[in-house]
Amino acid sequence: MSDAFKDLRVIITGASSGLGAALAEAMAVRGAHLTLFARREAELGEVAARCRAHGGSAKPVVGDVTSLPDCERLVQAATEGGVGIDLLVASAGVSMWARFDEIEDPSVYAKLMETNYLGVVYPLHHTLPHLKTSSGTLVAISSIQGKIGVPLHSGYVASKHAVVGFLAALRQELKGSGVNILTVMPHWLRGTDLRANAYAKDGDAVGEGRRSHSRESISLEACSEAILEAIRKRKRELVVPWKLRALPWLNLISPGTLDRIVSGAVKAQDDED
Ligand SMILES: NC(=O)c1ccc[n+]([C@@H]2O[C@H](COP(=O)([O-])OP(=O)(O)OC[C@H]3O[C@@H](n4cnc5c(N)ncnc54)[C@H](OP(=O)(O)O)[C@@H]3O)[C@@H](O)[C@H]2O)c1
Repeated sequence: MSDAFKDLRVIITGASSGLGAALAEAMAVRGAHLTLFARREAELGEVAARCRAHGGSAKPVVGDVTSLPDCERLVQAATEGGVGIDLLVASAGVSMWARFDEIEDPSVYAKLMETNYLGVVYPLHHTLPHLKTSSGTLVAISSIQGKIGVPLHSGYVASKHAVVGFLAALRQELKGSGVNILTVMPHWLRGTDLRANAYAKDGDAVGEGRRSHSRESISLEACSEAILEAIRKRKRELVVPWKLRALPWLNLISPGTLDRIVSGAVKAQDDED
């Protein structure tokens, strides 16, 4: 495993916390050269410092994935001095926790689309020429919610479906280009800021501590290791844990059963219900 990431030139968006930060540290341990991108400067700087302490090189770039000029600046910083790019990990994301019929400001749906969908498209637009040169890899962190519906997450689900659809088309366009596209679909992850920062019905962040994670949730370490393995094997899709691959099939065979399972899982985590 270690050789595959030694001296790999990597961009990670959403690297200031959660899965993006965990992937950065896991790659730093293996000697990757990282350019790390997010809006919170202090948190991003701390992740970069930890990566350097692990032995990797790490350059923090502060910016917003919904801004094309920021994404262009990110790629310019990563390629400074004629350096190439082998791997783009698009991990930036934001969630929601509210029923559609209780949403007070529907512009939340635009924000979810901009961050989760255009937040893959924009960095990739500027990175793709470099990935073609290096026969590199795009890793997009979607979600199992990119394949099924989940209540209280309608805008998030739509944005993750958009990512999955975009990549399914792009994969065909890029056939023969040498670029590999890996779509990652994790279940709930423990130890991230996603829930605290999720949009509530008033458009503000939900905040800390309102909900617990199910026992089925995945650790960041386990998810990161699975993603590194999938990158190394140049896989096209990774569902974590693997047993969730059955859900889209269940949706075809018995959609009502899947609705009951998913609604029950969300209800169990929503202490307002
Ligand atoms: N947590 C889960 O249960 C789960 C499950 C499946 C999939 N995922 C996906 O995993 C990815 C990582 O999420 P996470 O769980 O690790 O949550 P997280 O800890 O909140 O990480 C989200 C990252 O995205 C960055 N970000 C958000 N908006 C941004 C913007 N406009 N521009 C630049 N960076 C932005 C955040 O940094 P700044 O705030 O500093 O910008 C942060 O670094 C997301 O795509 C999420 O949808 C998460």
